[in-house]
Amino acid sequence: LRIAVLFGGRSAEHEVSVLSAVNVLSALDPAKYEPVPVFVTREGRWLLSSYRDGALDQPAGGTEIALVPGGRGRAVALAEDGRAEAFPAIDILFPVLHGLHGEDGAVQGLAEVARVPLAGCGVLGSANALDKDIAKRLLRAAGLPAARAAILRRGDAPSHAALEAELGLPFFVKPARQGSSVGVRKVNASQELAGALEEGFRHDDKLLAEEFIAGREIECAVLESVDGSLFVSRPGEIAPAESHGFYSYDAKYIDENGAALTVPADLPAEIEARMRALAADAFRALGCDGMARVDFFLTADGRILINELNTIPGFTDISMYSKAMAASGVGYAEVIDRLVAHGLA
Ligand code: DAL
Ligand code: MG
Repeated sequence: LRIAVLFGGRSAEHEVSVLSAVNVLSALDPAKYEPVPVFVTREGRWLLSSYRDGALDQPAGGTEIALVPGGRGRAVALAEDGRAEAFPAIDILFPVLHGLHGEDGAVQGLAEVARVPLAGCGVLGSANALDKDIAKRLLRAAGLPAARAAILRRGDAPSHAALEAELGLPFFVKPARQGSSVGVRKVNASQELAGALEEGFRHDDKLLAEEFIAGREIECAVLESVDGSLFVSRPGEIAPAESHGFYSYDAKYIDENGAALTVPADLPAEIEARMRALAADAFRALGCDGMARVDFFLTADGRILINELNTIPGFTDISMYSKAMAASGVGYAEVIDRLVAHGLA
């Protein structure tokens, strides 16, 4: 089975995607899969890559890959001089792309147009989950608990006093459509708002000012079976190091000691059961299919809030999705087999 693994990408999470893809490729059973790694450049070109002994090539040029609309996986390779060459058909597309243009329904739509099977979440769920504003509205409409937030658009001039009155202090300012905490700032005092807005608007035209939830960060992995039933993993916990203040990009990927993961999380059985049920409800509320990781806050008084859903969760060494699945009896190779089976069904 020829499985095209897309990685890199146009988003700010380009480098995170490379780390994720190395792990996905190393987990592909060579007896079952013929991997076709495709490096998506920061400009969005698809370049044929190669994977050998744990290393993934990130070419600057070479052969470009194009899928043929309606072609059921038919692809062409474009040489550097522009000449098209035959390229063996792709059986399934596995985007390991995080953030905009990869996790937001764009590539998923391309798979639809090309009529090539897709591993993971489809167009609608991807688009809903990537936009934290839309996701919150759908969660709220389904009666599911999420932190309060105000929406800020470029050109708005929000007053700190009004935001503080609505959300309390501190609060977060986040781009609506980013991942890995890129562009996220915690606002502790009024003089920090302008800088937080400037940073946020560097990454998106729409921001959320969101209340700070003092609580533990817990995550569940969700995997859909071929029959449509959902497998929800046991929850795992992330404890960002005190020095980082929150689970920031640096705490995730730069600082080796930036966060500690505990899988499964040490939780009362009743809380764990509620979270797993909420993870499935949130997955459905956003119209997801295939897979997603559902991230929660758990407060000291037992309140559970849904933070967000990631439809292409990180597969890096520190990432929770595969660890939570493994702790629930589903190893990495099995996760991939199930995603592929779901995509082909
Ligand atoms: N957006 C990152 C990759 C994650 O959710 O794991
Ligand atoms: Mg995210």
